[in-house]
Parts: sequence; structure tokens; C-alpha cells
Amino acid sequence: MEKIQVVTKGVLGSVSQADIDALESEGKKSLAKLTDGSGAGNDFLGWVKLPQETPAALIDDINATAAQLRDLCEVVVAIGIGGSYLGAKAVIEALSNSFAAYQPAATKVVFAGQNIGEDYLAELQEFLKDKKFGIIVISKSGTTTEPAIAFRILKEQLEAQLGREEANKRIVAITDAKRGALRSLATTEGYKTYVIEDNVGGRFSVLTPVGLLPIAVAGFDIRALMEGATAMANATLSGKCDAALTYAMTRNALYRAGKKIEILVNYNPKLHFFGEWWKQLYGESEGKDGKGIFPAAVDNTTDLHSMGQWIQEGERTIFETVISVGSTERELRIPSDEANLDGLNYIAGKRVDEVNKMAELGTRIAHIDGGVPNIQILLPALTEQYLGQLIYFFEAGCGISGYILDVNPFNQPGVEAYKSNMFALLEKPGYEKETEAIRAKL
Ligand code: PA5
Repeated sequence: MEKIQVVTKGVLGSVSQADIDALESEGKKSLAKLTDGSGAGNDFLGWVKLPQETPAALIDDINATAAQLRDLCEVVVAIGIGGSYLGAKAVIEALSNSFAAYQPAATKVVFAGQNIGEDYLAELQEFLKDKKFGIIVISKSGTTTEPAIAFRILKEQLEAQLGREEANKRIVAITDAKRGALRSLATTEGYKTYVIEDNVGGRFSVLTPVGLLPIAVAGFDIRALMEGATAMANATLSGKCDAALTYAMTRNALYRAGKKIEILVNYNPKLHFFGEWWKQLYGESEGKDGKGIFPAAVDNTTDLHSMGQWIQEGERTIFETVISVGSTERELRIPSDEANLDGLNYIAGKRVDEVNKMAELGTRIAHIDGGVPNIQILLPALTEQYLGQLIYFFEAGCGISGYILDVNPFNQPGVEAYKSNMFALLEKPGYEKETEAIRAKL
């Protein structure tokens, strides 16, 4: 299997090769910390060897559960937020037909619990009213408010539609082995469950049942996804592939040179949610202790018509990481037109993807010329295997980069602040002092 590659030629000029090479020793030490567990947050390194160590029996079991859900349900609602949502959403979107939602098809996967939108939930309820549906409820902590609200509402609806016994056959819970409200609920109700291991953080959990079950329900090959991830894990950890190391070193060299914002760029709309997944992975891992590259994302060429001006000529504190997809799944040529009223005959006969690739190349050159360094990631195609590689590449790059930055990449203390205020404002029992304090600020 071909490996994804990282090309750093486009950053030279903003930083030198010597600036990047100067980080080699820190980078290698950081990579070693991921395998020897000597770095901060070392109780969350379960993802490092996860692809190789996932038993085939677990994949079989997930596939069997997915087949059962597909048999029973027209729609499966995957409930979760953050790391319990974005990985599955990213992979499913990357592999799906762009119009799958509008086509009659086997079981559809939809998402809930990733927001507290009243209209969203009410509309989802309405959509599910006459449909056979099931639920995969995902929460590592088992206590997160957004998915808990969605689950309470949809569980009630499912039970009202089918009765409790039948409803319970269509609910799968993915959570901690012992702790949390979701674990107690699942035990009481007798749901089928999968465990998220303690040593795998939410944003590193896409290759566990958290991501794998919804992806399998959507009809994709999770074995191939894991094969791709395993190949990248083996190559990264043995030093045969230095893509993740190179990426981590390069982005830190750019950060030290004043480039504080990284924009992940795609030229394939199917990768939109991959950008969302990546933003959580890098944002939550690195943004702490007053440090961290701000992760942003754009979908080109769409966003060239909205953000292109800023990127070309705005403040020069940004760099781009462009995911270049080698080949498309389909082939479509631009037709010739005798009248040529639109003036497009100069590209008649060309593939749409060729035009897209010229737009990509033209943009990269323009941005580099305009002072926006470009890292390029060459991804051969959007397949399960290559997406598996890409996931592991970004996870490893994130761990290495976080250690180079000298933060603990595996905690997220900052996400508690809003929760505490929200609980205080909602007068949750146990938050009386916080309620008083926050009222004084209003
Ligand atoms: O990366 C993380 O740990 C978080 O973003 C979580 O994924 C997110 O908060 C959801 O948490 P949980 O799965 O416990 O409901």
C-alpha cells in the first residue's frame, strides 16, 4: 500500500530547511515519548498502538452489531459530541456519495447530541416519527450534557414507538467500562455495549468502537480502515515513515517564526468534516498554557470565494496544510460546445479534476508568493485504507507536535469552564456556590 507523503518545499522562504532540521532532535525525542510513555499525559497513550492491537474478534463483533442494526433500522442516530462524534462523521462523509441523504438507500446514519439545538432535535424527532430507527449513544465520560439530552429525548420516542423491550434491541451504548451515568443506564436496561478504554482520550478514539460502529453501520469497510491505520502506525513507530515527524517539526518551526494560525485546506468537499475532526484534535491538544497554533479549515475552491482574499493579503500570521487527493473515484469530462458562448471550449475534453488540480496548484503558488507557507499532504485517494493512514498520521503528528510545544497534548482542562457556568446557571444540584457567584456577575 502506497503511503501518504508530506511535502515541505512550500514553506521554504518563510522558514529555512535548517530551521526545520533544528527541531529534529526535539521531534525524535517527542516521538520516543509516545512509545516509552515518558511524556506528560502518559496515561492517555492507548491510541499509539491501538490499530495493531485491536483484536480481529472486536472488528467482527462490531460488524455483526452493525449488520443487526442495518437489518432492523432505516435510520441509526449516532449520539455524541467532540471526540465521540467528529471521527465517525468525518470518515462517513469522506466515503459517502455526496447526495446519499437524498437517495433511497440502506440504513442512513444521522447525528445528534453534537449541539443543543431545539429545532434540530424537534426536526429530528419529526423525521424519525414514521421510521424504523435505532440509536448508538456514545460518551466516554457518560456524563456529557449535550448527548445526554438527545438520548433522553430519542430513547423516549423509540420506547413509545416500539415498547421498551424492542427499543432496547436497537440501542447500543459506547462508554467507559465502569464509570458514568451512561454505563449505569446501559447496565440497568441491558443494552449491547462497547467499552472506550481509559487510556484513549475522546479525540483519539475514532479507531475504537466510537468511530468504527457508526462507520460500519453506514456500510464502510472498517477492516480496511484499520489496515491503513496499522500500516501508518507500524511505519511511523519503526521510523520507516517520517511523515508525522516531518509535519510536527515543520508546523512548530513555522509557529516559532510567528505563524500562529494553521489552515487545513481541502479541494474535495467530502473532506469538510475531516477538517472539523482535525480542528478538535489539534485545538484541544495544543491550545493551553497560553500557547498553541490556532487550527482553522477551509474547503476550496468554495472558500477561495469567501476567505481567499484574507488568506492572500491579510495578516501574515498564517500557514496552510493542503490535503491533495491524488485521484477521484469517478471520471467526468467537460463537454465541447459548438457555440462556445460561455468561452469554456479551451478546457473542453478535460477532466473536472484536472481543472480542480490546476486551481489547487495555482492557489498554492499564489499563497506561497503572498507569504503563506504551504505544507502539502499527498493522499492517493479517498478510500478506507488511505483515510485510516491519514487518521493515524494526524494523531501521531499531534502527539509529537504537542510534546515539541511542551504541553500535555492529552488533557483538556479548559473545556470545563463553560460547563461549570452552564450548570451554575441551570441551578444544577451541587453548584449552589457557583450559581451565587455567577449571578453576581450578571
Ligand atoms: O476529546 C475529548 O476528550 C472531548 O472533546 C470529548 O470527546 C467530548 O467532550 C465528549 O466527551 P464524552 O465522550 O465524555 O461525552
